[in-house]
Amino acid sequence: MRSHPCGELNTHHLGQTVALCGWVHRRRDHGGVIFIDLRDRTGLVQVVFDPDAADSFAIAESVRSEYVLRIEGVVRNRPEGTHNPNMATGQIEVLGKHIEVLNESETPPFPLESDIEVNEENRLRFRYIDLRRTAMLEKMKVRRDVARHLRQYLDANDFFEIETPYLTKATPEGARDYIVPSRTHPNSFFALPQSPQLYKQLLMVAGMERYYQIVRCFRDEDLRADRQPEFTQLDIETSFMDEDAIMAVMEDMIRRLFKDIIDVDLGDQFPVMTYAEAMRRYGSDRPDLRIPLELVDIADDMREVDFKVFSGPANDPRGRVVAMRLPDGGDLSRSEIDALTKFVGIYGAKGLAYIKVNDLAAGIEGLQSPIVKFASAEVWASVMQKVAAQNGDLIFFGADKADIVNEAMGALRVKLGLERNLLTGPWQPLWVIDFPMFAWDDKSQRYTAIHHPFTAPKCTVDELKADPGKALSRAYDLVLNGTEVGGGSIRINRTGMQQIVFAILGIGHDEAREKFGFLLDALKYGAPPHGGIAFGLDRLVMLMTGASSIRDVIAFPKTQTAACPLFNAPAPVSEEQLRELNIRLRKPAEKNEKPD
Ligand code: AMO
Ligand code: AMP
Repeated sequence: MRSHPCGELNTHHLGQTVALCGWVHRRRDHGGVIFIDLRDRTGLVQVVFDPDAADSFAIAESVRSEYVLRIEGVVRNRPEGTHNPNMATGQIEVLGKHIEVLNESETPPFPLESDIEVNEENRLRFRYIDLRRTAMLEKMKVRRDVARHLRQYLDANDFFEIETPYLTKATPEGARDYIVPSRTHPNSFFALPQSPQLYKQLLMVAGMERYYQIVRCFRDEDLRADRQPEFTQLDIETSFMDEDAIMAVMEDMIRRLFKDIIDVDLGDQFPVMTYAEAMRRYGSDRPDLRIPLELVDIADDMREVDFKVFSGPANDPRGRVVAMRLPDGGDLSRSEIDALTKFVGIYGAKGLAYIKVNDLAAGIEGLQSPIVKFASAEVWASVMQKVAAQNGDLIFFGADKADIVNEAMGALRVKLGLERNLLTGPWQPLWVIDFPMFAWDDKSQRYTAIHHPFTAPKCTVDELKADPGKALSRAYDLVLNGTEVGGGSIRINRTGMQQIVFAILGIGHDEAREKFGFLLDALKYGAPPHGGIAFGLDRLVMLMTGASSIRDVIAFPKTQTAACPLFNAPAPVSEEQLRELNIRLRKPAEKNEKPD
């Protein structure tokens, strides 16, 4: 049908007769001459029709935006002075000889120019049009390049690409499951995998040694800009490699990916930080190290002060009191500080104390804040020294239970860093290691796994049993610019250790057999030492393309409420289908309905 892609024509083709297919990007009438910018996925080319060819001219006059055309014409130089340096094909144009309308188009629901903001619901409803926009096409190209590059790297390093089932049993990664009823087994359900975690471990027991898969994962959880209910992982597992060896190969892969696809140098060796240090200095296990602000512990100074808000948490073993210095922050207005106070409130902080540093040499007199009066000059001098205050700074304070302080002050740190343009560079990778095995959940009064229940501890069985809360795991996360792009661990490969971890998580013997009997059995048949990692492919592509949401790098994403406006999914099913599945629906509770 066509001889050349539109976007690849240039002065080498001068004088040639070409056949092009594509969409009408724009059509302009210029004093008896018609210009059509014809678009295909390679780009645009200008086609000119003059009235000499009367039949073609009449058709060219009738076409509208997004009509699909086939055009034959001759490539020629654009007249002197009409070259367009912003267009790859800006030196040339095609003098149209013949035009055929392959299909008409209604007026698109929104314009395709990339810089025009379109409501997202509309974009998703007409995704096939949205994807025609250059900015979206570019993102899809990067995504294709990324997947291709990762496959090539892993193939070259002797990894097997192996597919694992989607219809399976729950694999706990901390979210709710999507479940699928079974017709052939009435009253039983499959779960869609939250990850292929257990399959990839079984592949190691099976002797595959090195596995990877670009795989869809399903998690019914609260959605955010970097989360989707179905998303894609680059999932990896290896045998006979310890954490240092796995991290080294993965780091090499990611470094080459960024260099080859977007020409970014992520640096020779990614920094490594323990979870404890990340929480202490940044209040987060995925700190954005481009932001130079840090949390500084000042509980030692605050135990005796006359201000309950600070002395309370300072004397509470689960409390935390921190100061954070904002260089040159003295210019923040009262209303700006009020807005920040409201912001930390989202994370549960009950307030946001601050001190303006007017004149350090003047001691306590040079500090401006309603809270200065609550403590002595010595206390404030010690605090100012700890945060390395300078005249003109603003010092913020957070005091509460440690997790509230970490979340609130960690989020404040990121907000100030981004809004006040404090970033020290464009890219900052970081490995976070030495995560705790477990977190204590007050509500359910039990431990939960920080990574997943198959992660190996750094300690022995006896040490683990003696104090689960203290145990560290052999897990590692890769963080890039404050986004967790990958996470993995060395796994438990002995039945005894796995049973103990289940027991600590409150999974009793019978429940463990019922849910994970196949794993406990498999570990008895020569399970090798093994470990792996999974990267969020959507998140990697989001960062590499500068997109603000992973929805922009997924061809057909779900909305914030986990729905698809294009297909109108999820949707009710017929009574007949339900009967086949042995399912009767509960009626949604009606308003004002009397209780039974
Ligand atoms: P984890 O749960 O940390 O580990 O997931 C690995 C990576 O997947 C990405 N990710 C997501 N991306 C988009 N939307 C989501 N809802 C979402 N959830 C996670 C993140 C994350 O770092 N089986 C383990 C891996 C292992 O231990 O090997 C796992 O799934 O980038
Ligand atoms: P108050 O005495 O309650 O008016 O508080 C004095 C200052 O402390 C105000 O700036 C509050 O925003 C701040 N503040 C209150 N509670 C906290 C807290 N938990 N952490 C940090 N600052 C707080």
